[in-house]
Amino acid sequence: MKVLFVCLGNICRSPAAEEILRSMTEGSPDDWTIDSAGTGRYHIGQLPDRRMRVHARQRGYELTHHCRQVDLEDFEDFDLIIGMDNSILASLRHTAPSVEAARKVRPMADFFTPGARYDHVPDPYYEGSEGFELVLDLLEDGCRNIIKEYSGK
Ligand code: 4NP
Repeated sequence: MKVLFVCLGNICRSPAAEEILRSMTEGSPDDWTIDSAGTGRYHIGQLPDRRMRVHARQRGYELTHHCRQVDLEDFEDFDLIIGMDNSILASLRHTAPSVEAARKVRPMADFFTPGARYDHVPDPYYEGSEGFELVLDLLEDGCRNIIKEYSGK
């Protein structure tokens, strides 16, 4: 499975999702390719936001991704393109070069355990610590369910 996580800045939510899924699939017999990208250009080349790195490290995830923007090739290279909220999903579907490519786009919230209190992964950029912890909780839950749905495929 080739999975691309996408958020706005590619410095908070998607690089954290990338590392969580990578760590959860380490040693798996399935072949996973995992990456992340942003719809925005503001932080290209940068490491993830320091606050995100600190909170992720407390759970054992080392975030080393360098920010990049989504491009058209991503729609060919990946099987599944996961957007963090509705505006990201709208942008991805708008950019998708074909109907088939647009079908690869799915909301991260599709993978939340039923009963979750959120229907998207909220942008933590202007939030405090709780915002970053919430993002990690939602991403860990979603990544477990991604593995359940796609392992062996
Ligand atoms: P992310 O968070 O989309 O989860 O990476 C953000 C990071 C930066 C900005 C917005 C959201 N920004 O406006 O710079």
